[in-house]
Amino acid sequence: MLGSNTLGNGWVVPADDAAITAAADLLRGGQIVAIPTETVYGLAADASNADAVAHIYAAKGRPDFNPLIVHVPDLAAAEELAEFGPLARQLAEAFWPGALTLVLPLREGAKVAAAVTAGLPTIALRCPAHPVMQAVLAKSGLNLAAPSANKSGGISPTRAEHVLASLGGAVPMILDAGPCKEGLESTIVAIRLENIEILRPGPVTTESLQTFSKRQPSQQTGQKIEAPGQLASHYAPTKTVRLNAQTAKDGEWLIGFGTVAGHDNLSPTADLAQAAAHLFDALHRADASPYRSIAVADIPDKGIGVAINDRLKRAATR
Ligand code: TXA
Ligand code: MG
Repeated sequence: MLGSNTLGNGWVVPADDAAITAAADLLRGGQIVAIPTETVYGLAADASNADAVAHIYAAKGRPDFNPLIVHVPDLAAAEELAEFGPLARQLAEAFWPGALTLVLPLREGAKVAAAVTAGLPTIALRCPAHPVMQAVLAKSGLNLAAPSANKSGGISPTRAEHVLASLGGAVPMILDAGPCKEGLESTIVAIRLENIEILRPGPVTTESLQTFSKRQPSQQTGQKIEAPGQLASHYAPTKTVRLNAQTAKDGEWLIGFGTVAGHDNLSPTADLAQAAAHLFDALHRADASPYRSIAVADIPDKGIGVAINDRLKRAATR
């Protein structure tokens, strides 16, 4: 459903100063707003307001056992919500603002609605780098709970149009700042006994985390699901997805990479960062194409390629 809102010509508004002020007002009033970050677009609400957080779950159709990431303006705000040990602080100083989410013990008395953590004794925190998200945090004076701004289980949005297509009229305002630079959701790590455990691979690679930990960062193996984004089927298009394709079979839309040309190509020069930035947009387009199913070229499993392959495996599982 498209329509006009009090700001004028529609749900999607360019993220200028007036729109940022209006977004901050909506958030302070307990509403939800879709906001661009450097990873993907997030669906934000005041993390301390239980009713506001309930709007996020309702709009996404998200199961209520799946906790949310809280976005903070800086490390000081984060330390009011969680217990930071030396390693957590080091990681925050090295990677914030940026695409790293830290899962840490929830601080007693932290001003966070219970639904944000889904009853867990931990909280996921991220200080985002995107100037629009930073401006909304500053203007509103709030910490913002924000999952990716898509229907639960669907493909994450890297453009305002993706949010509109997935959530449409359920969101009073979508701030538009063009495509997201990283294009994949943040890396999520838990710190256990001063060791790093990667719960979700992302733009901050294992290689770059390695230098901060005496032990090799471990990757969660998945018997026990701690980040439900790690459910086997997630980020899924509506069509079947075949991986490691060289050519398109009958009825397939091929997403290429490097020399595998395809109908669309994640990066003709085989640049993995460029491929990450284009991945979800390519999946959205493949899903919207008149083709019956989707095939994707082989992506090297190194650097951010690990996170790309993580999302592709989940997209291919149903
Ligand atoms: O880049 C991102 O992280 C984006 C932008 C908007 O910041 N957000 C995002 O949120 O991807 P979402 O809700 O789609 O994914 C958050 C993941 C979920 O898989 C959730 O289960 C996990 O974080 N999570 C949240 N709190 C957790 C906790 N206390 N322990 C373990 N996992 C947690
Ligand atoms: Mg998500």
